[in-house]
Amino acid sequence: MDSPHPTGIGLGLRASIIADIDAGKADGALAFLELSPENYIWRGGVTPDRLERIRERFPLLCHGLALNLGGLDPFDARYMNELRSFLASHPTPWYSDHLCFCNRGAEFHDLLPVPFTHTMAKRMAARVREASDRLERAMLVENVSYYLELGESEMDEPEFIGEILEQADCSLLLDVNNVYVNAQNHGFDPYEWLKKIPLERVRQLHIAGHESWDDKTLIDTHGATVRDEVIAMMAWVIERTGPLPVLLERDTNIPPLADLLSEVKTLDTVYQAALDRWRSASGANLEVRRA
Ligand SMILES: [Fe+2]
Repeated sequence: MDSPHPTGIGLGLRASIIADIDAGKADGALAFLELSPENYIWRGGVTPDRLERIRERFPLLCHGLALNLGGLDPFDARYMNELRSFLASHPTPWYSDHLCFCNRGAEFHDLLPVPFTHTMAKRMAARVREASDRLERAMLVENVSYYLELGESEMDEPEFIGEILEQADCSLLLDVNNVYVNAQNHGFDPYEWLKKIPLERVRQLHIAGHESWDDKTLIDTHGATVRDEVIAMMAWVIERTGPLPVLLERDTNIPPLADLLSEVKTLDTVYQAALDRWRSASGANLEVRRA
């Protein structure tokens, strides 16, 4: 059963803004904060106390970077145990990580794509179920951005993701910027991609900015403001799903908190308008059903 979860626009908790957030400068301006436990486990100093205070004031969502769901090696037991205790002491309705591999005997510090095959979907679904059991938390999986296809694929990405969601009986953290960046780099229509995704399984969105490498290639840097085309994709999803938590990711060129909050406000205006359209459509559908 789902735990209660936040909806609306949230922000990733990063080292450069944590002091301001602890000082109350984002109070009332954010629906939630998302953090990556890897940045907080095995840490001392002032951070654990700050986190304790912050979690009293904001709902938290936890998003991982190192589960290595596409990997071949067994999960690291020490990491899993630490993660489980972190999640137990920082209540969050689910835990999310990426549909990628990032470790093969050594950390790659990158989220690398997997081939879209039935064997890989089955393997990843089994690992999602195992992670969910060991972490005692519902799992969300996130679509990644990728710059090359590794190996021969047997299906397209939405079909691959659909198989994993079905076999693991888990939900999707849909990163609309990753879809946009992949669509531009690999030459497909992002809305055709979205139409093939089971939207009823989407529990959270990520939205972020990207930058151009050259006139053909976009890089998912999370280092710029979100482009209008990506904001439009967020709205397209929300007007079909209804309220969800939407996280603004910013990991490089991080501006002052006030600038991030102003971007959150812009996103919220679009989000609320999309929700209005969802409400009208839901109302219209109810009218039709009643008739
Ligand atoms: Fe993301």
